[in-house]
Amino acid sequence: MSLSFIPLTFPSSLDSTKFNDFGREVVGVNPGERELTEEEFKTVEKALYQHDLLLFRNVNLTPDRQYALVKAFDPQSEHYGHGNKQLDKTKGSIIHAYVSSLPNTPQVQIIGHGVIKNHEGIAEKTLKHGRHPEFHRTQISDEDEAKGFTRFFRWHMDAALYDLNVPKVTALYGIKVPKGPLQTVRYDDGSGDELSVSLGTTAFVSGKVMFEILPADLKSFAVRARAKYAPHPFQWLRNAKARSTGIGLETEGLETSLQDLPAWEEQKIKVYPFLWKNPSTGNLHLQVHPLVIMEIQIEPLPEGCRNEGALYPLGGTISDLKEIRELLYKMQRPGIAPSLVYAHPWEEKDLVLFNNRGLMHSVVGVFKEGQVRLFHQCNLAASDEPFGPSEEDIRKWS
Ligand SMILES: [Fe+2]
Repeated sequence: MSLSFIPLTFPSSLDSTKFNDFGREVVGVNPGERELTEEEFKTVEKALYQHDLLLFRNVNLTPDRQYALVKAFDPQSEHYGHGNKQLDKTKGSIIHAYVSSLPNTPQVQIIGHGVIKNHEGIAEKTLKHGRHPEFHRTQISDEDEAKGFTRFFRWHMDAALYDLNVPKVTALYGIKVPKGPLQTVRYDDGSGDELSVSLGTTAFVSGKVMFEILPADLKSFAVRARAKYAPHPFQWLRNAKARSTGIGLETEGLETSLQDLPAWEEQKIKVYPFLWKNPSTGNLHLQVHPLVIMEIQIEPLPEGCRNEGALYPLGGTISDLKEIRELLYKMQRPGIAPSLVYAHPWEEKDLVLFNNRGLMHSVVGVFKEGQVRLFHQCNLAASDEPFGPSEEDIRKWS
């Protein structure tokens, strides 16, 4: 049977005109049953970068095969995106509470909710699903949460953003998927925005769409801007609190001072362009991790470029966290509008592969006691860095 790529069924809340290219179900090969042939893999790889998210259904996937599949996208990559077992050593990281490595395949992480027993060499473990009160400045009341109101936990791409390069592809594999009534994501930012989602969905937004819908002045800014991330970023922010939409932090001076972080080296700090160029389509995706950005560096307008309304026409550096976050929020909040979020309705044995350099995602929802969710997640610190905009792109959008 030959491979085919079938458009996903989108909920009516999604503006499908902006998502023509986004997401496909792959039919004709089951990566749990056998390794893909070289030709099949090339086709899948191309489709992944064209559609940013691929879904395989009814897959029985061992951790070894999941690791091998992700590694095929970047054969020289070796270690988990945050480093093998690194998280276990860094108790101060906010990731630590939610993710842990499988003992026999440390590149594959176990995530979910509730107590699991006798699983892949783990006798017993209590998993914890990220729930907004642990991270947001404000909270939904217990009463409303019991009625099924929830929030996006935190929007991000999968990346350590210090020392290790941003993984290319993440594979999320649903093993136990508890069922329950739909829940309602509340944005709680005065907009009245809400989104109906399945229990324990993973929400995705396209970095390509996020860039496309920007007004011209912010496009000009984005194409010239670079984000400098904090050293040990997930320890740096550990006391800070997020906005109610899960995209970005409140600025209250709660970040750990750089002197109080574990030892760090300037050359391991990551500085990335705001826009990443899709290696297959050439499209530009707005890919900025909103939680751990510490500085914005802006290039001046290119020589000969006339743009009366340009922000920072002479370039510059923004290092005030409040200013950085307000500007970035203006760029990213429109891209998480309810009509631009694809919330995947998980079924057991779903395998989702996504272009981690082309979209952002968030954990969503709240489980009741006794509901057990079990997923395997794999991404690998990449062998190279993301591509930024070309000189031509900079000219075009400045
Ligand atoms: Fe993630």
